[in-house]
Amino acid sequence: MLRLSKRYPFSASHRLHSSELSEQENARLFGKCNNPFGHGHNYVLEVGVCGEADPESGMLLPRAELDRLVRKAVLDKVDHANLNADVAGMRGLVPTTENLALVIGRWLREAWEKEFDGRPVRLDRVRIEETARNTFEVTYG
Ligand code: NI
Repeated sequence: MLRLSKRYPFSASHRLHSSELSEQENARLFGKCNNPFGHGHNYVLEVGVCGEADPESGMLLPRAELDRLVRKAVLDKVDHANLNADVAGMRGLVPTTENLALVIGRWLREAWEKEFDGRPVRLDRVRIEETARNTFEVTYG
């Protein structure tokens, strides 16, 4: 089986804060990530697809088509956005990168079903680097 991974940088801001918790509990749990004015990250989204190469093209799928899908399904929604306020799929969630990875994975799977239905390639991994030290990954078996 072949796997292709492509990386897509984007920038967004967030504040880690739960409306279920008191100010003190939020401050204790999230530390400086609970700063009321938020902070930004230069995230890197990595999308992994796997399957069989198309015998005619020799490719899993044309890269430009994957780029277009990721731009439409994900980057247009999150790039230069505030994850607490601007992103419909994140409302009501603490905008941790765990939650962001799950939401992005859901968007990609929905777009995949619509646009790439019937192809011998599937989405198998969504990985987000939040910083040089923190990476979050959702895998689809
Ligand atoms: Ni942060």
